[in-house]
Amino acid sequence: MNMEEAAKRAEELRRQLNHHNYRYYVLDDPVISDAEYDEMMRELRAIEESFPHLTTPDSPTRRVGAPPSEAFKPVNHLARMLSLDNVFNQEELRTWLDRVERQAGQRLEFVCELKIDGAGIALTYENGVFVRGATRGDGITGEDITANLRTIRPLPLRLMGDDPPALLEVKGEAFMPRSSFEELNRRREEEGQPPFANPRNAAAGSLRQLDPAVTASRRLDLLVYELAYLEGRERPPRHHQALELMREWGFPVSDKWAMASSAEEIVAFCEQWIERRDDLPYEVDGAVIKVDDLEMRDLLGSTSKAPRWAIAYKFPAEEKVTRLLDIEINVGRTGALTPTAVLDPVFVGGSTVSRATLHNEDEIRRKGIMIGDWVLVHKAGDVIPEIIKPITERRDGTQKAFVMPDRCPVCGARAFRPEGEAVARCTNVDCPARLFESILHYASRDAMDIEGLGPAIVNELMQKGYVRKISDLYRLSDEQLYDLTHFKDKAVSNMKKAIDQSRQRPLSRLLFALGIRHVGRHTAEVLARRFRSMEALSAATEEELSATPEIGPIIAASVRAFFEEPRNLELLEELRKSGLRMDEGMAEGVSGTLEGLTFVLTGGLESMTREEARAAIEERGGRVAGSVSSRTDYVVVGKDPGSKLQKAEQLGVKTLDEAAFREMLGMT
Ligand code: IVH
Repeated sequence: MNMEEAAKRAEELRRQLNHHNYRYYVLDDPVISDAEYDEMMRELRAIEESFPHLTTPDSPTRRVGAPPSEAFKPVNHLARMLSLDNVFNQEELRTWLDRVERQAGQRLEFVCELKIDGAGIALTYENGVFVRGATRGDGITGEDITANLRTIRPLPLRLMGDDPPALLEVKGEAFMPRSSFEELNRRREEEGQPPFANPRNAAAGSLRQLDPAVTASRRLDLLVYELAYLEGRERPPRHHQALELMREWGFPVSDKWAMASSAEEIVAFCEQWIERRDDLPYEVDGAVIKVDDLEMRDLLGSTSKAPRWAIAYKFPAEEKVTRLLDIEINVGRTGALTPTAVLDPVFVGGSTVSRATLHNEDEIRRKGIMIGDWVLVHKAGDVIPEIIKPITERRDGTQKAFVMPDRCPVCGARAFRPEGEAVARCTNVDCPARLFESILHYASRDAMDIEGLGPAIVNELMQKGYVRKISDLYRLSDEQLYDLTHFKDKAVSNMKKAIDQSRQRPLSRLLFALGIRHVGRHTAEVLARRFRSMEALSAATEEELSATPEIGPIIAASVRAFFEEPRNLELLEELRKSGLRMDEGMAEGVSGTLEGLTFVLTGGLESMTREEARAAIEERGGRVAGSVSSRTDYVVVGKDPGSKLQKAEQLGVKTLDEAAFREMLGMT
């Protein structure tokens, strides 16, 4: 590229980036994916590095964050709030690592943390009392959002411990857990408001509400990750100790961090979390690698934009724009007809995506999706990809509206959508598509985990008439297995073993595998823990079912209905005869002494953290709730209890001090 071309391209990139910056930060409504934005930014940075005189003062590469809005009072941060530089692969990580170790003149130890996808905030405490909270703003001056931050439940309004520092500033991330995000968007759609594109925009938008009551209704969460400023006591020498100290003060601090002293260890941490990111209740978009030695951090210093002692290792993008080629109809195991998007294949969230669920007819209408649209696709790790929205700006008149068919595309039976329900279903109970999906679900990893029983084999087993219902799996003969395509001795013996092992799965797995409506993996575990055997569960009345914590009337009715259907009872009887286990057994080492009891924790305990207390209760079958109600069985009262104690006294709920609580746990 010659200089003239470079100048032109740089100008174009700056214009685009500024536009997208505005859409993203000001409107909370991006029209391109983060990955596309990052890509443009990298290109611009590369040009400015090759031709430094082309850098302009208003270049987006020189901006740390968005300017504070007029609506909130500006506040100065005690410690500058920098951004982070990014690396996108192992090679770039190694280059960075070599550079810091060279600058440091020694090998270093690092703390690896998750990069939470929310809004960065600074929290200030005077003599242990929360006095101010601010957005990042431009890194020096942020917006005062104290009133809104106060509504975030995990934010400590007063530090725990007897000896709080005179002045403290911590940095952290306010974010919206996926569950709150989904619930919020559902509500917004009901109220006819546009949904938020992702949890980060929702979090940022929620923090900048003029009415704190609105923020409070948004169910934000918080994790704190930097001790940025400290006066009136000595700072610990290392970052991981600072994390521990902040936790002792009562801040929510993630426990998902690890020490590392080589590129291999850092990569292992990142790879593990790329794999497991969907297990987290919130979105992460990378890992942050930080020098552990705080004195060394001071020596390394910062550029105007980012510290030299930390780097963000970005995980593969989860959002991309691509073309929606067609909408096909899938028939699920409940007969539900699900529209599925056929996409121009696109690499997103670590894999190539060519299909995405569209849920149902109403959803397509609500999102305003048309066949032929450019759409924003989201994929988190190995969950089913989803279409967030059409990019209506890119329509060219060739787009077509979608019409839901009124017949099952597999068996041709009439499809029926009951009044008030979102989903149309095939009316044929023997529709082959339903059996096929039921078996795949039954055999899936989280259900009965029958390794090797995938779509191709299930299809063949059904085609040949060897499997007409789930229980037929346990009656397959050697002859039938040898008859399958490519099945020789090894494959036959592996399949027999896999099927045989599934007989030993606990009740919770079987319940989930049966595909009872509204009984997901978690609910199956709750039911299994409470009722312990299929026999007891099948005998439970609706009242007994809904008296179980977390089981509401809808689940209770659905479970009851399942056990009332003669075909299901027949299936269970056949499975029992085939030697399936059908009970749960005890969790190892602990007994279920707190089964069915609901606890609320308030104040700090001396002998354990709140997380440990929660874990101890849950291990014993109990449940921890966030607020006191007449359904609370016990309130555990620690030091400096909050208003929950008063509430307990008002409602006459029993309270336990730490000693009584430990006794109940059998921990004396
Ligand atoms: S440290 C000077 N640690 O990512 C170092 N940041 O893209 C400041 N973030 O502005 C940040 N998780 O809002 C750090 N564990 C973590 C983080 C984290 C998320 C955010 C933070 C920062 C942004 C940079």
